[in-house]
Amino acid sequence: MGSLSFNYIVSFIVLLLWAVVVSAGKTFNVKDYGAKTDGRTDCTSAILSAWKEACEFPGDATVYLPPGKYMSAMIMMSGPCQGDMTFRLDGAMRGTKDLSKFPRNNWVAFQFLSNFKLTGNGVFDGMGRSTWAQNKRVGKVFPTSIQFTSLNDSLVEGIRSKNAKMFHMMVYRCSKLKIDKVTIQAPANSPNTDGIHVSLSNDTQITNTNIRTGDDCISIGQTNRGLYISDVRCGPGHGISVGSLGKFEDDKDVTDLYLKNCELSRTTNGLRIKTWQKSYQMTCSNFTYENIIMKKVFNPIIIDQEYCPNGVGKCGGKSTSSQVKIVDVTFKNIKGTSESPTAINLLCSQSNPCKGLVFRNIDFKHTGSAVANSTCLNVANPKISNVQPPLCQN
Ligand SMILES: *[C@@H]1O[C@H](CO)[C@@H](O)[C@H](O)[C@H]1NC(C)=O
Ligand SMILES: *[C@@H]1O[C@H](CO)[C@@H](O)[C@H](O)[C@H]1NC(C)=O
Ligand SMILES: *[C@@H]1O[C@H](CO)[C@@H](O)[C@H](O)[C@H]1NC(C)=O
Ligand SMILES: *[C@@H]1O[C@H](CO)[C@@H](O)[C@H](O)[C@H]1NC(C)=O
Repeated sequence: MGSLSFNYIVSFIVLLLWAVVVSAGKTFNVKDYGAKTDGRTDCTSAILSAWKEACEFPGDATVYLPPGKYMSAMIMMSGPCQGDMTFRLDGAMRGTKDLSKFPRNNWVAFQFLSNFKLTGNGVFDGMGRSTWAQNKRVGKVFPTSIQFTSLNDSLVEGIRSKNAKMFHMMVYRCSKLKIDKVTIQAPANSPNTDGIHVSLSNDTQITNTNIRTGDDCISIGQTNRGLYISDVRCGPGHGISVGSLGKFEDDKDVTDLYLKNCELSRTTNGLRIKTWQKSYQMTCSNFTYENIIMKKVFNPIIIDQEYCPNGVGKCGGKSTSSQVKIVDVTFKNIKGTSESPTAINLLCSQSNPCKGLVFRNIDFKHTGSAVANSTCLNVANPKISNVQPPLCQN
């Protein structure tokens, strides 16, 4: 064998090994970058260094946080990266109590990534108890625990989020993000601790998830196309809410929402669509809510197009009515108990009546001794079959 072909074979083997190593991915353990697991030492720069090297590694890479407690300030983990990134949390991350360490009102943020995965059986502990008392101040915003911005084809699975300072998770400008088997928990009286807020995103999935919190379990903001939500348990909390919509000129349509096999328990609202009374034009269309169980929910089904938290002056008075169109919304196979007598509350817009509403196989009973009833305002030609309490009969 000549030395030329020997060199050729060696190069080939080296190349092959390199390809195997790269495709199997490499793990970057934050402890190797100086992270301390005492829950007091600031691990922000250690985690960021691990992320930076992992991102620059020419292959798939995992940033790993083994069991232990990691205290940190705001961490922005950005792509694009060389290979597909995974962030695996088996420990407990804790957000510092020092609010000056969150200049952008995020705690942990993942952004500009494709095929990203957030996984592990660890917990993101926002340490919100230290700031909730201040949240009541009007106009002040507190950090979101986990922010996903501009992610494509990504997955969030298994992890737990607890006691966020404000929202637990925010999905923003994402395409095909799946959230599966996640647990979110904060006390019922914690302020503004929405579970998952989704806006400006396409094809978002939320499945097999438990949310107990102080505000909306899931809130769906403006400009979303394709939301698939199934097997979610919510409560306590404020329910699953679309809106408030229409406040800003840039607010665009929310379409193709499919929500099924969910249970809401002791929430203030069940299924809610909320639009500003004084609003810009946009449309909510093609929503289906199916196979839902409600237990002791205050407002099980509510469409509120008269939202005007700041009183008459800000809404232009009674003559103003919402410019948000609500079209083709189906509620079927929904049953349970209502804490308020009015189990179904439809307050649609006078200038844009709700169109294409379908109600099938619905049964609510009042938790007390009252007979459950409903309201029906500005609903054009609803299709109603087998619904208790009776709906839109006059
Ligand atoms: C996500 O997909 C969009 C549309 O295909 C593309 O413009 C964008 O660059 C992608 N983002 C990343 C981080 O790959
Ligand atoms: C969602 O889809 C719309 C319409 O195709 C597109 O304009 C928009 O950029 C997409 N958004 C994201 C975040 O991919
Ligand atoms: C309505 O949404 C569903 C997904 O929930 C989608 O499959 C269907 O194509 C949409 N229908 C229309 C008319 O856009
Ligand atoms: C619903 O029932 C409650 C309690 O009986 C009653 O106070 C309320 O006026 C009723 N509302 C409607 C819209 O019938």
